[in-house]
Amino acid sequence: YFVSNVLQIQLHASLCEAIGDTGPLHRCDIYNSTLAGLKLQHLLQQGSSRPWADILEETTGLRKLSTEPLKRYFHPLTDWLKKQNEGKAVGWTDACPEVPVQYEAEVGYRGYPSAADFLKYYNQAGGAITNKDVVAQWAYESNITDNNRQAMVNSSVEYSQFRKEMTKEANRFRWHELDDVIARRQFRKITDIGTSALEDEQLKEKKMSIEQQNFVTSFPIITTQENTKSMEDDFVINNLADVKARMAGTYGMANLTMSDGRTLALDPGLTQILTSSRNYSELLEAWKGWRDVTGPNMRANYVKFVELSNKAIRQLGYADTGAYWRQRYEAPTFQEDLRKLLADLKPLYRLLHTYVRRRLMIVYGAQHFPTSGHIPAHLLGNMWAQKWDNIYDIVEPFPGVEEIDVTPEMLRQNYTVTRMFRVAEEFFTSLGLETMPPSFWERTLMQQPDHVTMVCHASAWDFYDQHDFRIKMCTEVNMENLLVIHHEMGHVQYFLQYRNQPVVFREGANPGFHEAIGDVMALSVSTPRHLATIGLLDKASNTHEGDINFLLRMALEKVSFLPFGYLIDQWRWSVFSGETTPQQYNQKWWDLRCEYQGVSPPVGRGDDDFDPGAKYHIPANVPYIRYFVSYVVQFQFHEALCDAANHSGPLHTCDIYNSQAAGDALMSVLKLGSSRPWPDAMQMITGRRTMDAGAILEYFRPLITWLEQETRNERPGWSAACPQPEDTTPPEVSTPLELTTPSKCSFIENRNGAARHISFFSLIVVLFGHLCSSLL
Ligand SMILES: *[C@@H]1O[C@H](CO)[C@@H](O)[C@H](O)[C@H]1NC(C)=O
Ligand SMILES: *[C@@H]1O[C@H](CO)[C@@H](O)[C@H](O)[C@H]1NC(C)=O
Ligand SMILES: [Zn+2]
Repeated sequence: YFVSNVLQIQLHASLCEAIGDTGPLHRCDIYNSTLAGLKLQHLLQQGSSRPWADILEETTGLRKLSTEPLKRYFHPLTDWLKKQNEGKAVGWTDACPEVPVQYEAEVGYRGYPSAADFLKYYNQAGGAITNKDVVAQWAYESNITDNNRQAMVNSSVEYSQFRKEMTKEANRFRWHELDDVIARRQFRKITDIGTSALEDEQLKEKKMSIEQQNFVTSFPIITTQENTKSMEDDFVINNLADVKARMAGTYGMANLTMSDGRTLALDPGLTQILTSSRNYSELLEAWKGWRDVTGPNMRANYVKFVELSNKAIRQLGYADTGAYWRQRYEAPTFQEDLRKLLADLKPLYRLLHTYVRRRLMIVYGAQHFPTSGHIPAHLLGNMWAQKWDNIYDIVEPFPGVEEIDVTPEMLRQNYTVTRMFRVAEEFFTSLGLETMPPSFWERTLMQQPDHVTMVCHASAWDFYDQHDFRIKMCTEVNMENLLVIHHEMGHVQYFLQYRNQPVVFREGANPGFHEAIGDVMALSVSTPRHLATIGLLDKASNTHEGDINFLLRMALEKVSFLPFGYLIDQWRWSVFSGETTPQQYNQKWWDLRCEYQGVSPPVGRGDDDFDPGAKYHIPANVPYIRYFVSYVVQFQFHEALCDAANHSGPLHTCDIYNSQAAGDALMSVLKLGSSRPWPDAMQMITGRRTMDAGAILEYFRPLITWLEQETRNERPGWSAACPQPEDTTPPEVSTPLELTTPSKCSFIENRNGAARHISFFSLIVVLFGHLCSSLL
């Protein structure tokens, strides 16, 4: 553009000269001059066939860019300006002026005369508006009605607008230059607003389209310990509310009519089958059916969602939504670190896989198992093969030695739901951590009230007013739920400990830390020793067989999850970055499942299928890598806290119950929230600054030795590629929305494009316009 501005007047001057116009250059008009036309034509016809200096010389007589004509053109104006400026200081110094960091006092800006005042205001107003948003979301999730949904959508749009407004205001401060590290960090988080960056117009459109549609009236109950609704970044990201509501609707309302006539939702019906049926065809019908009634019905919305989300995130300067998610971990080598962790853990996972595969072959018959070494994905006791503890009965190493499931004993002792919550609280207080406040006990929803539809997915809630903290859960009396309560209460303990931090720091050191805290407690609680201490086991046996049974059960819960926890966001990041296109969605999904988990689809999958959509966190758009991080760091924390508690003996027998020293170590980290980068927090607990697989491997060491022995005659592992399915579906016809890069520059004129309409086409213009646009 610089070159063009000089050159255009140079050319103008030479064309005017050619037609003999000798008046002031700014008055010259070459209209109707064939001579000028010929001269120009000659220039254009050369293309880039010769060096431009040659062409310029033929046209203008000069081989160089020259500012002479430009000066001549503006000569009358220059003369006039000189007169105007007579006696005035002309120009400026090379260096920028000294501007004080808090220069806005002079601007008189909205009554915050300094950066510190702004932060004070933000913490008060931000806390209040977040509180309002959480209250509305709670009201909806604990009582799903149309009114409550509308109230929730309104407050979420209001919240987004607030965040957006505050970003603008924060950016009036030269906050990058503040000396106070903590203040700078607050500013950075305040201005990092995710999808709230959407234009107001789009927000309004969204709001309307949500109001017009009928919404979910039933939600699935997810029994795994994955929930994060309470975390602030989710609220921010959740603002692509309309496509997301549609996807959640598809997922939440899906049901399947089985060949025997039963109509089943995911919970409890289909989950029950996957958990407890040992009939190959029945499992297959439920597995395939669930995918048929979810994925294909939300696929087009997902494509749309990816585009919208990226569009919003790019306004913040991130390459795509995946990059935005990853920056929360503040580690430039994050992806590389994850890869290395998984590689360190793969030998353990492979031993477990090989052992479990052989046991499954005995039950279902080897003819069902592909020769590539994969396990058919529907046989592992879980709809997504993400956690295998439900097939413990099939794989138990020493049948009958030491019963670890204390559910029957809980029932025998007439455990109530409230008692389970009190038992969990008592564990935390035994470490010197906080009790749950009185309002927690008044407002927590432990069970689904009669005649109310609610989201049962267990969750912990911070209301951002420093007093109100709750859990929402449809609790049943059993051991798994007892552990889930510890997990959720770990979140609440974190909320309590960091409640006095500025609003933007009231989150985990990283999202994985938040997920890990309650699980660290559960690692102690689930030891036979602890269960005996609280009277749920007669006595903790200490036989080798008992240890192996216990460790295998833990491995089915924790180790089996690792590759799954890793691959979900590998898939999503590649989708957000565009590396995986919509036509490749399902193919890529299975490539990852086959390679990392060693499970394969039991029937052919086609491009019409959208199997990622059969997993809650995809339509709900909850980032997933935090669970992988949590499963790694919780063992690091456990090991460090056991050291603090002076535990001696194998790591898997450690119970930190009653150790003030362990509690103190934990508390110091919880209090920080996200006010410091997580490696600082990690170092405070473990003495190391990095995630590390050593602690998990140490925990499972006796099991590793046993599995090596047990599988010594087996062929371990599986091929990286999926096995060829016997049953294939024909390739699909067309995809409704496809993001394709124009292969050639097509000079899209987008001067008015933004105003014209927001269509998919204009989105392409927005994304790729810079490649072609000839406008400034
Ligand atoms: C559920 O929400 C509705 C408003 O949509 C309200 O009238 C009703 O009282 C609520 N029910 C409960 C049990 O809170
Ligand atoms: C099953 O799904 C269909 C289609 O979404 C829906 O109309 C119906 O109400 C659902 N049935 C049940 C029992 O949830
Ligand atoms: Zn959680």
